[in-house]
Amino acid sequence: MVRTAIQSAVFLTHIPITMKLRHLLTCIFICSAALCPAQDQLSALIPMPNEITTNPKASLQFTAGKSRYYAEGNSLDFAKDKLNRIFQKRMGISLLPANRPGQAEILLRTDSTLQNREQYRLEVTSRKLTITGATPEAVLYGIQTLDQLMLGDVCATAQNRITAISINDAPRFGYRAIMLDPARHFLPIEDIKFFIDQMVKYKFNVLQLHLTDDQGWRIHIKSHPHLASKEHYTHEEIRDLIAYASQRNIEIIPEVDIPGHTVAILAAYPELACRHQHNTEIEVGKTTNRMLCASNKQVYKVLEDVISEISSLFSSPKIHLGGDEAAVPENWEKCSDCNRMMKEYSYTRATELMIPFFNQVLDKVRKNGKQPVLWCELNNIYPPADDYLFPYPSDVTLVSWRNGLTPACLDLTYQHGNPLILAPGEYAYLDYPQYQGDLPEFNNWGMPVTTLEQTYQFDPGYNRPPEQQQHILGVMCTLWGEAIPDINRLNYMAFPRAFAISEAGWTLLENRQWKSFKQRIYPNLTDLMKCGVSVRAPFEIAPREQP
Ligand code: ACM
Ligand code: ZN
Repeated sequence: MVRTAIQSAVFLTHIPITMKLRHLLTCIFICSAALCPAQDQLSALIPMPNEITTNPKASLQFTAGKSRYYAEGNSLDFAKDKLNRIFQKRMGISLLPANRPGQAEILLRTDSTLQNREQYRLEVTSRKLTITGATPEAVLYGIQTLDQLMLGDVCATAQNRITAISINDAPRFGYRAIMLDPARHFLPIEDIKFFIDQMVKYKFNVLQLHLTDDQGWRIHIKSHPHLASKEHYTHEEIRDLIAYASQRNIEIIPEVDIPGHTVAILAAYPELACRHQHNTEIEVGKTTNRMLCASNKQVYKVLEDVISEISSLFSSPKIHLGGDEAAVPENWEKCSDCNRMMKEYSYTRATELMIPFFNQVLDKVRKNGKQPVLWCELNNIYPPADDYLFPYPSDVTLVSWRNGLTPACLDLTYQHGNPLILAPGEYAYLDYPQYQGDLPEFNNWGMPVTTLEQTYQFDPGYNRPPEQQQHILGVMCTLWGEAIPDINRLNYMAFPRAFAISEAGWTLLENRQWKSFKQRIYPNLTDLMKCGVSVRAPFEIAPREQP
């Protein structure tokens, strides 16, 4: 019986006929307690896997003190540990290690012939549970899916059984990111690790850290020690965080935002501002819209030092250098030095100085063996915006973000050959309020309400033909920090909307359905709450009694 996930969900039998009364009572209790009327293997799967074959008549029984696992390969130590934890958590069973695969009910293995590095197969028969992954990271994803099978199929889990199933799963996109903003409100490393623990459950594989902005510079730079704000990350902390994330298949991409959003760097080095700004007050967190001067050689020297240190500290091949919301009219346009530079290049618009500015900076990125990423800016911030702000070199990965401009960014990046990451404001800006009055202490932060349902409507392919989607690396949701003072607010803003972005990045469009998703979020929200994650209950979509 081969069906897509959502078709299977419709046809599944929920309660086995042979179930004993005791188990039936347990089941009724658990099902009603968890808010979700139909609980089965598929009812907690997020993101929905792409190929599922169900077999509700068979199941595999586990027994404390007897059930054994076997893992082929040393690199599966982390996956093995995770497997043991979920059996302990969901069934209260401590699995025993087996000496040979033949002795084990559970087998973890890698198979490098699987084509996608995140592809896994999860097979449960009445005799064996096998998770095969292209890589150890893919095996970990198979275990995360297994965890959600147990979470959803409450009746079987209560009897220490897993219903037979076959899943063959791989992501639609290889890049599924969340951006955090410790520049606006500092996030201690332990909080970021806690957030990473939640990210991996939903198969996100990139964490972008917005490390610098007007409100703070959060990374110690050994060659410029006074750049860092009081609250910042040391190199040791960053190395530790990278290792923690990497075990969980998460790459950490650093962002240093230039040439705008630079009040923190200018507070340390006021001489790097445009000449007419040299005698004006500058205060971290209060002043905005100051830029690095495009014509000051010292700017490029400091940036060279910063890029070189960040390059050796972070293992990601990518560095994000911002490039967004540069207040060119207040800075470069009014600066005598920048005006002289414009004349040298025969430019008529000050924004053209972005070309030599980023030429110099991107060269330093390339010399350090890294790939540059920038926020995509167009020639207008509202439609019709029909061209790049300046000609981005084709090795620059662009991130589309402004409300309504993603279709234009998609087409321009396709024409110019820039790889693209999609973070459209109207779907993926999870710092936006979730309903009117969501952020009263920040006056709703002046941003448009972005509901869970709106976020779920996000199709990263934007209906473009397949050949015009080839350059899309994937998706990213942002959690800008102005109205996110701590980890509790962060989780509240992220979940459940990040579930929707996770599914947009992983699941093929034909396997996605709002009606099914709307049910699948409940067991996950309940489970996150039990782990101490301060999620938001999406009461606006919850079934309510008729008056
Ligand atoms: C951005 O939201 N300023 C990229
Ligand atoms: Zn200047």
